[in-house]
Amino acid sequence: MVDLSVDLCSLHMDNPVVPASGTFGFGYEFKDFYDINILGSFSFKGTTKEPRFGNPTPRIAECTAGMINSVGLQNPGVEHVVNHELPEMKKYFHKKVIANVSGFSVEDYAYTCALLDKEEQVGLLEVNVSCPNVHGGGMSFGTDAKSAAQVTRAVKAVTKKPVFIKLSPNVTDIAEIALACEEAGADGVCLINTLLGMRIDIKSRKPVVANKMGGFSGAAVFPVAVRMVYQVAKACSIPVMGCGGVQSARDVIEMMMAGATAVQVGAANLVDPFACKKIIEALPAECEKLGITAIKDIIGVVD
Ligand code: FUM
Repeated sequence: MVDLSVDLCSLHMDNPVVPASGTFGFGYEFKDFYDINILGSFSFKGTTKEPRFGNPTPRIAECTAGMINSVGLQNPGVEHVVNHELPEMKKYFHKKVIANVSGFSVEDYAYTCALLDKEEQVGLLEVNVSCPNVHGGGMSFGTDAKSAAQVTRAVKAVTKKPVFIKLSPNVTDIAEIALACEEAGADGVCLINTLLGMRIDIKSRKPVVANKMGGFSGAAVFPVAVRMVYQVAKACSIPVMGCGGVQSARDVIEMMMAGATAVQVGAANLVDPFACKKIIEALPAECEKLGITAIKDIIGVVD
């Protein structure tokens, strides 16, 4: 029997598979598809201090082997999340959950994280400094090492929970940003968020998404994600949560070999709500074929 368990700082998980923020709602939306307690954990929809309606529509563009989204951090705001979404989630998910937090100022991040810090079910804070779909926040913090460090310090000051910083691939040197977060006290990093992309409707000669550009994700970005996970894992000593284009159990194994301790599955959930279930069920057999008896043994095995 293959041991699939991993430890992400203080978060012990039965397996390394985690639906990515923005692709799994608050979890209970998936309860009629399967028992979501089979997941290692999941990262809930990016939460901000104030409620947000999100960007104008259309917000989605289909691409070969991927998609572009420009949701714009639509969410009901942290107070609603704490008072309504988390209690509803708790009825169906009995493990620790990952809280994804976004902001438009350093103070926003600290405020939202301080409220979520009080929630027993939140096992880890995932601080998103990499959303490409909003102005004056999101990715602007994650493309500058000093700003990413500033957010990290502000959040660390208001919580005892592990803090992971979710990084943007839209930078020249992602290891530099990850190191700045590590030096500022981050307990881990999560990467990659989406790549800034664009599609044009050649009949109307207009961008497909109303916000013109959006975040590109899906199978096409997997090699970029593996490369960045590898670079960051080699540069840092804090754990890495890998994310980006993961479609299968074999992709999970590959990303862990690159250096990820846990692996998030994003766009695949939007194509197939059973994607994570299928990956978790396929993992033991894929590990056995490769002679892996404990999945944690393969983390970062590639030189
Ligand atoms: O637009 C969005 O809500 C996406 C968020 C993200 O990619 O972090």
